[in-house]
Amino acid sequence: MAFHSYKGGTGKTSLVVNLGALFAKQGANVCLLDYDFRAPSLNVLFKAKPQYWLNDYLEGKCEIVDTLVDQSARFKLPGKLWVGFSNPSLEALKDIMGKDRKWEVKALTKTLAGKKEIIKDKQVDYLIYDTSPGAQYSSINALAGADLVSLVMKADEFDLEGTKELSKGVYEALGRKSGIVLNKIPLEQIAAGGGAESFGKQIESDVGLPLVGLIPCMCELMAMGGKTIYTIEKPDHTFSKSIGQIAEKLKKM
Ligand SMILES: Nc1ncnc2c1ncn2[C@@H]1O[C@H](COP(=O)(O)OP(=O)(O)OP(=O)(O)O)[C@@H](O)[C@H]1O
Ligand SMILES: [Mg+2]
Repeated sequence: MAFHSYKGGTGKTSLVVNLGALFAKQGANVCLLDYDFRAPSLNVLFKAKPQYWLNDYLEGKCEIVDTLVDQSARFKLPGKLWVGFSNPSLEALKDIMGKDRKWEVKALTKTLAGKKEIIKDKQVDYLIYDTSPGAQYSSINALAGADLVSLVMKADEFDLEGTKELSKGVYEALGRKSGIVLNKIPLEQIAAGGGAESFGKQIESDVGLPLVGLIPCMCELMAMGGKTIYTIEKPDHTFSKSIGQIAEKLKKM
C-alpha cells in the first residue's frame, strides 16, 4: 500500500503509522517504509537510530532488510512492525534533491526488488509506503511498488483540483487500485448530520475514485500526532476508530 497526496500535511504519515500499528496489533506482520526522502518523519515518531537508511539501500550500500528496525517489542505488538527510515540529515536532503532521472530509474528498479525481498525475508503481510506530496520521483516509485494507493486529501478546493490532476495523470497511468481518504473534516460539518457523507460522495464523483475513509479534524492530533500512536495508546479514540474502519475497507479492496 502507498499513501500519497497532492498537497502536504494532509495526514499521510499519521495514517501510515496508525494503520501499520493497528495491523500489527491484529497480529499481522507489517513493514513501514519512509519514502518521504525530502522530509523524513518516521524517525521522529519512532526515535530509532538505524544502522542503514533507505537512502543507503538505494545507493547500493546495503540490502533493504538491513535498513529495517523491529518496533513490535517496544509497543508490545503480537505481529511484527518493521520500519525502514530515510535519512533526515541536511546533507542527505540536499543529496536526494540533486538526483537525476537516470538515478531515479535505478531507484525504481531497487524499490521493486526491495519490495520482493522484504515480503520474502520478513514474511510481511502489509508493506506500507509513506510518500512525499506531489509528483516527486520517489513518490511515483513508491506508488509503482504498491498494489493499492490511498490518496489522502483535506476537504478544500485547492486540494480537490490538484487531486483530480494526480488521479488522471498518475494513478490512472500506473493502473493501481486507488481510493480516497478524506481527512481533517471540520466537526461542524459532521455535526450538521450527513454533511460529511454527502461531501464524500461528491468527492468520489469529482475525483472518480472510491472513498476509503472519512476522518474528522481533531485539534488534539496536531499536538499529539507526532508523539502518540493512537491505535495503540488510545484505541477507543475517534481517530483510532476511523483508522479501524479504513483498515477494514482496505483489506477488502
Ligand atoms: N484528523 C486530523 N485532525 C487534526 N489534525 C490531524 C489529523 N490528521 C493529521 N493531523 C495532523 O496534521 C499534521 C500533518 O499530519 P501528517 O504529518 O500526518 O501529514 P502528512 O501528509 O504526512 O504531511 P507531509 O506532506 O508534510 O508529509 C500533524 O500535526 C498531524 O498530527
Ligand atoms: Mg508525511
